[in-house]
Amino acid sequence: MQLSVLIKIAALWQCSFGLSQASEGAHYIAAVYEHNIIFNPDPKVPRSRQAALDHMKENLDIYEEQVAAAAKQGAQIIVFPEDGLHGFNYTRESIVSYSETIPDPASMSWSPCLQPERFNGTEVLHRLSCMAHKHAVYLVANMPDRQECDSTDPHCPPDGRYQFNTDVVFSDDGTIVARYHKQNLYFESEFNTPRECEYVTFDTPFAGRFGLFTCFDILFHEPVITLLEKYQVKQMIFPTAWFNEAPLLSAHQFQKAFATGSGINLLAANLHHPPLRMTGSGIFTPSHSVYHFDMETDKGRLLVSNVSLPTDSETGSPPTSEVCMKSQDCGKPSASKPVADGAAPGTFHGSMSSDNYTFVPVQGAEGDLTVCDGSLCCRLLYNGSHVPEELYAFGVFNGLHTAARQFYLEVCALVRCPGDTFASCGGEVTAGDQTITTIDFHLEGNFSTRYIYPSILTSGMQLDSPDRVGWEKESYVMSKKHISGGLVTATLYGRHYEKD
Ligand SMILES: *[C@@H]1O[C@H](CO)[C@@H](O)[C@H](O)[C@H]1NC(C)=O
Ligand SMILES: *[C@@H]1O[C@H](CO)[C@@H](O)[C@H](O)[C@H]1NC(C)=O
Ligand SMILES: *[C@@H]1O[C@H](CO)[C@@H](O)[C@H](O)[C@H]1NC(C)=O
Ligand SMILES: *[C@@H]1O[C@H](CO)[C@@H](O)[C@H](O)[C@H]1NC(C)=O
Ligand SMILES: *[C@@H]1O[C@H](CO)[C@@H](O)[C@H](O)[C@H]1NC(C)=O
Ligand SMILES: *[C@@H]1O[C@H](CO)[C@@H](O)[C@H](O)[C@H]1NC(C)=O
Repeated sequence: MQLSVLIKIAALWQCSFGLSQASEGAHYIAAVYEHNIIFNPDPKVPRSRQAALDHMKENLDIYEEQVAAAAKQGAQIIVFPEDGLHGFNYTRESIVSYSETIPDPASMSWSPCLQPERFNGTEVLHRLSCMAHKHAVYLVANMPDRQECDSTDPHCPPDGRYQFNTDVVFSDDGTIVARYHKQNLYFESEFNTPRECEYVTFDTPFAGRFGLFTCFDILFHEPVITLLEKYQVKQMIFPTAWFNEAPLLSAHQFQKAFATGSGINLLAANLHHPPLRMTGSGIFTPSHSVYHFDMETDKGRLLVSNVSLPTDSETGSPPTSEVCMKSQDCGKPSASKPVADGAAPGTFHGSMSSDNYTFVPVQGAEGDLTVCDGSLCCRLLYNGSHVPEELYAFGVFNGLHTAARQFYLEVCALVRCPGDTFASCGGEVTAGDQTITTIDFHLEGNFSTRYIYPSILTSGMQLDSPDRVGWEKESYVMSKKHISGGLVTATLYGRHYEKD
């Protein structure tokens, strides 16, 4: 009798204190789905609402199967990609029949599954809400949101409506708990940019708080850095429709770089469409990653992973032992003189991701190279089994990237050159290129920004983790011994947001 009372009290205690206990080394199960989307072949031609619904049903049916499969594996949250239900390349007019008006969850509580009659024209919200409810999972999907406006709003577009690229989050009973309108659009003339950047978070009972942002947003200060720094978000949800751009900006490469550099958990779901180089999704924590990259097949892929909750003490850099190259003193600055841009024999210029990099060739079994662009000097110490037919270069870029949109970069990058001359350096290496050179390296740069996103890519576009990464005195360093495959790139990608 007494014992059972005690057990009950213990159970109660566990219940009410469950969440604060959860912040100490607890786990939850997350899922992301890389979706092989069924496209609308003529996105620029307006369709009836019924035709749009018929099209989206094909994608929703796949979502439903994946939610069931994820729930079966214990998933508590599932994330679907940007544009996953409708696709892209629409016009302002042709996206209308694909859009729904998503009410602001901050001003009302609504479960479309439980109250389907409350708003008209919300068939997609209804279907998604019922998936979340039926399988008792949090669900994040991306869809077009349409908000009517009129002349009482001086900013109302001439066609009387705002159209937003939108992430919507349903709780495990189907209630809409968050809605985020994408801030940094990428050639999406069908959508409006929100007049004020939205900082959207939501809380879950199993994992605390999550922040939301979409695709191109990942490269900008707003809303991402504000979510991290002002709102102290430690877990982010990232629906994306990302065209890979090796060797610096492959989807999964940058997702992991962002999670490592920011010291957060990232749940990232990309579209799967190899003809447009769309693949690369994952569940990343600062110390562990599960990811998918597949240029070979036209199949979607569900990833499910046990994720550790971030702890308050967690920092961006996984703690690892010191790894020194040869007899170098890791702590001390190099005795070798920095090489001025253009002055040293052997420096050359090459375009990488449309930026003008200053490169030096990486040759021989070992070396110590420095290359500078303005105030940024990058240094590389290396030794390895360097296959002579595989050329490598070490490059620096410190300047404004001007293709697509302006943003300021500070980058140090060791790259495999795709061709058999140094003139090819900076060009794209593809997943099909097999690389066998393994190099032990220590990279460092005296960046003037503190926002650095580090990554290591190996043969076949696989990811590897550094042995050591983070700030040491005035430099950001990354080192690796015994890399898991042939080296494709090792990059310190710095963003200097204030100079954009
Ligand atoms: C969208 O447009 C891009 C670039 O214009 C084109 O390469 C692609 O095939 C189009 N995709 C779809 C699904 O319409
Ligand atoms: C929904 O549409 C129907 C038929 O067009 C209309 O009768 C009804 O009032 C609408 N309901 C709401 C909530 O707008
Ligand atoms: C998640 O990982 C933790 C720690 O490794 C383990 O204790 C727990 O059983 C795992 N949960 C599941 C469902 O795999
Ligand atoms: C790259 O920069 C160098 C040095 O400033 C310059 O000489 C070269 O013309 C530039 N290359 C291109 C393609 O702009
Ligand atoms: C980086 O090092 C070089 C060479 O020592 C120096 O000229 C430059 O000012 C340094 N940059 C920063 C941002 O400290
Ligand atoms: C680099 O040098 C270290 C120390 O001599 C050695 O342990 C390591 O195996 C070398 N790495 C490669 C890839 O040869």
